Amino acid sequence: MTKKHSLKTRLSHLGRHGTHIHGLVNPPVHRGSTVLYKTMADRDAHKGRWTEQVLTYGLDGNATHHALENMVAAIEGGHHCQIVPTGLAAITVPLMAYLKHGDHILFPDSFYGAGRGFADRRLPQMGVEFTYYPPEIPASELEALIQPNTRVLYLESPGSYSFEMQDIAALCALAKRRGLVTMLDNTWGIAAFQPFEHGIDVSIQALTKYVVGHSDVLLGGIVTADMAHHKIVRRCALDLGMYASPDDCWLALRGGRTMMVRLDRQLESALEVTSYLATRPEVAEVRYPPLPGSVGHELWKRDFNGGASLFGVVFDPKYSREQVYAMVDNLALFGIGASWGGYESLALPAGDNIGRHFGSTYKPGEVVRFHIGLEDTADLIADLTASMETHLR
Ligand SMILES: Cc1ncc(COP(=O)(O)O)c(C=O)c1O
Repeated sequence: MTKKHSLKTRLSHLGRHGTHIHGLVNPPVHRGSTVLYKTMADRDAHKGRWTEQVLTYGLDGNATHHALENMVAAIEGGHHCQIVPTGLAAITVPLMAYLKHGDHILFPDSFYGAGRGFADRRLPQMGVEFTYYPPEIPASELEALIQPNTRVLYLESPGSYSFEMQDIAALCALAKRRGLVTMLDNTWGIAAFQPFEHGIDVSIQALTKYVVGHSDVLLGGIVTADMAHHKIVRRCALDLGMYASPDDCWLALRGGRTMMVRLDRQLESALEVTSYLATRPEVAEVRYPPLPGSVGHELWKRDFNGGASLFGVVFDPKYSREQVYAMVDNLALFGIGASWGGYESLALPAGDNIGRHFGSTYKPGEVVRFHIGLEDTADLIADLTASMETHLR
């Protein structure tokens, strides 16, 4: 297997070629803290090799972590991946790694909520300044927000609640010209957007979503463009004691084998459901970049070759929050809950999570974020129709 094979092919093979697996298809779960050496010379030979996949102590990560790191780096087209315990840690570790007292960072207003909580509460403690910018701002206007102490440009495209797309190549070109490090939360774009081809330095993946795929594990991956960035990220992860359970990594490896099939199917289903919702009189706007006519569709068409099954729907403003909540409460096939990327469909009113500095870019009305799972779309559409017709009148 080589890099010329497609990702679909490579996901069936990556990380399976360790030693001592006695012909089994899957590598086993390795667990361990202490690593024993035969001699002191042997121990010394392992010292100081923390940037390599060499095991000196459990914290370094073992063969199970390395197999997953190799898989995630291949999915993202990056140089290396550092596994961390959650998607949120995949955001906070690079922020801590690159920012020091006196620095400044630019965040999009669409920044994922818990990451935003870290920024709002912890960055001031670290003496780091930040500015939020409207996610769809053109590079020429963003340039005016760059300060002499700006070190990082943070990106999330599309925003995971409001789905605005960013012109990553144009924003990265500006960042390069002005000497900024670029970080992108590419969770929605997994396997559909190749961040390093557009100039990103650090790509953040909440593996909790489609890689794990079964809503049973939290995990994050920080993928870097080259060894220099990997060193900065890995040093910080090790300094913070970031360690992910090998059992969780093994489940993520297992999820990764079938990810492309699930992503293809869930994209197709989400397109079917969003196309239907866009025709409904109760619906004022559907935000799903793969859907023609949606906000962000043109950039999606230019830059992506697939995408997630997560989207936003605005209901006509004549419906109250209570009516929209009643409609969500009475859906039989959609769970009410956070996260996405699993095999099951979800619905979550999202009104409080959008447009926090600059106001919502959605049309007026109550917003519900939907995730489409692997259920039959005819059943999902019938469920949505019945609940809308009962509660939105
Ligand atoms: C866009 C995005 N990034 C990161 C995360 C964080 O992932 P985790 O839940 O694994 O911490 C989430 C979780 O919902 C997310 O939606």
